[in-house]
Amino acid sequence: MDSEPIILGIESSCDDTSASILKGRKVLSNVISNQEIHSLYGGVVPELASRAHEQNIIPVVDAALSKANIKKNQISAVAYTNGPGLLGSLLVGSSFAKSFSLGLGIPIITVNHMKGHILSHFIDDGNESPSFPFLCLTVSGGHTQIVQVESPTIMNIIGTTLDDAAGEAFDKSAKLLGIAYPGGPLIDKYSKKGNIHAFTFGKPKVKNLDFSFSGLKTSILYKIQNNTQKDPNFIKDNFNDLCASIQYSIVSILIEKIKIAIMQTGINNLAIAGGVSANTYLREELKKLSSNNNNFKLYIPKFEYCTDNAAMIAIAGYFKYLDKDYANLNETP
Ligand code: KG4
Ligand code: ZN
Repeated sequence: MDSEPIILGIESSCDDTSASILKGRKVLSNVISNQEIHSLYGGVVPELASRAHEQNIIPVVDAALSKANIKKNQISAVAYTNGPGLLGSLLVGSSFAKSFSLGLGIPIITVNHMKGHILSHFIDDGNESPSFPFLCLTVSGGHTQIVQVESPTIMNIIGTTLDDAAGEAFDKSAKLLGIAYPGGPLIDKYSKKGNIHAFTFGKPKVKNLDFSFSGLKTSILYKIQNNTQKDPNFIKDNFNDLCASIQYSIVSILIEKIKIAIMQTGINNLAIAGGVSANTYLREELKKLSSNNNNFKLYIPKFEYCTDNAAMIAIAGYFKYLDKDYANLNETP
């Protein structure tokens, strides 16, 4: 339908520079440039991230436009991530979006990165979108939340981490095992050959629907230190088992709270979003949970929309565009 808005989405909150073109809810392009540089440092270096965004932003937007076969004057609005994220990184995306919209005389729309992760479920990609209300387990490198989603604009956080995020727990544990950043995907990979019950780690004791991962991290650190003192080859000889046991511990913490959230709210629709929602074991365990309960409906995004991408920012922008919920140029990240 030609009356459908064409939204340019821009994402630059952390270490991925991404631009996407959506026509209505359909993705015409979703270009992501990852920043390899951070793997040398075992984590994202904010100053290096800002500099890389600065270099990437124009080529990435150009690539998104040409891949989508869309001319600049066809774009209805520019949606960009306004937070949360690294300030220097956000400033690159927001400054670009503002100048671009000013040049073209089109509206700008600010998007909350975490809402973008959740709304990625509404991209028209053949997957069924969740029906409202639903719970969303939003698990990324910076956040771990259970969100009660009433509509594309009304969302309430009913549980959150008190310290580290689940993605951080994966990445920091991976670092202890000598795995380069970001370690989450590699722990996922090596765990497939390991025994999930080979090692046990301390469990958090957090009330209500909140999470904690810092105690687990310390428990993993001590287990590795103590055993490496006795046997210098401990990590090497137990590598896959360590990965599997760590992954099991993190995922179990998430699943336990999700079960309570479903019971407490009576909401049986569950979606997952954010980088950690790409985790194979988390997906398998949730699928088991849903196949054991006929009332329980599970929504899992395509892998490409789990980790940071601009299509999720563009879809969130699309909903705000329908409400004419535009920002002005004074908005700061
Ligand atoms: O959503 P995201 O791309 O960026 C943030 O907003 O933080 O999430 C990145 C996080 C990283 O911590 C990364 O290790 C984790 O998601 N991650 C995974 C997997 N893929 C990405 N963690 C576990 N298993 C995976 N397959
Ligand atoms: Zn994210």
